[in-house]
Amino acid sequence: MQSDLNNESKKFPFGDLGVYLQNPIFKVLAEIASQTKTEAYVIGGFVRDIFLQRPSKDIDVVVLGNGIGFAEKVGEKLRTKVAIFKSFGTAMLKYNDLEIEFVGARKESYRSNSRKPIVENGTLADDQQRRDFTINAFAISLNPSNYGELLDPFNGIADLEKQLIRTPLDPLITFSDDPLRMMRAIRFATQLNFSIDEEALNAIKSQKERISIVSKERITDELNKIILSKKPSIGFNYLFDTGLLHLIFPQMANLFGVDIIKGRAHKDNFYHTLQVLDNICETTEDLWLRWAAILHDIAKPATKRFEEGHGWTFHGHEDRGARMVPQIFSYLKLPLNEKMKFVQKLVQLHLRPIVLAQEQVTDSAVRRLLFEAGEEIEALMLLCNADITTKNEYKVKKYRNNFELVKQKLKDVEERDQLRNWQPPIGGNDIMEAFGLTAGKEVGILKNAIREAILEGEIPNNYESAFNFMLEKAKQLGLNQVSK
Ligand code: CTP
Repeated sequence: MQSDLNNESKKFPFGDLGVYLQNPIFKVLAEIASQTKTEAYVIGGFVRDIFLQRPSKDIDVVVLGNGIGFAEKVGEKLRTKVAIFKSFGTAMLKYNDLEIEFVGARKESYRSNSRKPIVENGTLADDQQRRDFTINAFAISLNPSNYGELLDPFNGIADLEKQLIRTPLDPLITFSDDPLRMMRAIRFATQLNFSIDEEALNAIKSQKERISIVSKERITDELNKIILSKKPSIGFNYLFDTGLLHLIFPQMANLFGVDIIKGRAHKDNFYHTLQVLDNICETTEDLWLRWAAILHDIAKPATKRFEEGHGWTFHGHEDRGARMVPQIFSYLKLPLNEKMKFVQKLVQLHLRPIVLAQEQVTDSAVRRLLFEAGEEIEALMLLCNADITTKNEYKVKKYRNNFELVKQKLKDVEERDQLRNWQPPIGGNDIMEAFGLTAGKEVGILKNAIREAILEGEIPNNYESAFNFMLEKAKQLGLNQVSK
């Protein structure tokens, strides 16, 4: 499907575009265009974001001619430094909080095994048609004859109104040129709550394997943008339905499906996970808590069993899932640092508050949970709340009520015992000193016993009680206190 490229200028339907170019930088760009008799246009995402009313700090300027030379002139006028990227033929300068990138109009062709194009000079129309989507191919003129006019050869305005992601050229060409665009299509659809044009969707399905020439870092970057959107399930559904998810993140695609034995089915863990993810997005912007929602049940396929008389079980999926977290982070090139540890901890503990809510909520169980979750207790409670996805109204009510009880108890115990980041009042050194021991088995036994006694509420959480308790335990082990 080749659109006609007459570059017929159109007036923006909601008024004159000049009003969106109020920043003095545009006057400077126009002056240089006029002085050098070089055509220049604001292009791409900045123009799209005017229409979407999303203020943007990155401005792309396309120049019919030498982009670097043009940037240097702008730099002279503004008395500011210009960063030149010779091998890309681009230049960049900063103006207040704006970043402006200059490039010569291009006609690009790609090789089948690389995302790096072979670049030739081109017209504005060439440049617009090599862009990824019609809504990213808008240009606004900076030239004296038609300053502020919109050039929209592919009817991107209509696509904005239809809320459609569509490619300027045949999508088979656009995606084959740069397969990362398959991820970008899904990412924009998710961020903007748009649909992907059917032809483009079919092209993704048929070309999905080309994603293999894109680096994992870039793929994960797009994935994170999907996850940071308001409703990430939109993107994950597209990723799954096109088959891309199976290639970029097979562990998640594996969650899909329902088995039925003797008429008993378990829930589909893929759709459950998406529900939990959307739920958590209503309460947090934190990328890593959102990742914890994605991974909380990741080991369910690996731990699934059908037990006679019992039905489906997923015993130990929280431990196994926590062990899978570093492998998945490494596979997706996510950071292997404290963020990963945070996700791992939440996956490990995700059942605990719910189990508590189902049972008698005792002080000692709450104390133990606080001790293990530490600083992560609030995040864990958000995850657990998001994990309640049953459609059974009665169950939801019961869970939520018990959950409130757990929350209240957590607050009470926390206030009383201050267990967050807690260390028992007597540590290994105190024990060694008291009994003249060197590090060894006995020290460990005593340390554990003190911690357990406090967590179980057998003794109060203070030095004196812990010391007396230690003396008593030590006696049972045949240890004598050394006199000072
Ligand atoms: N572009 C493209 N193909 C790509 C990446 C970018 O055609 N794989 C074009 C699009 O016209 C896009 C512009 O380059 O609008 C700028 O790209 P970029 O800065 O990556 O993205 P934006 O569209 O500005 O959006 P965001 O900042 O949300 O990534």
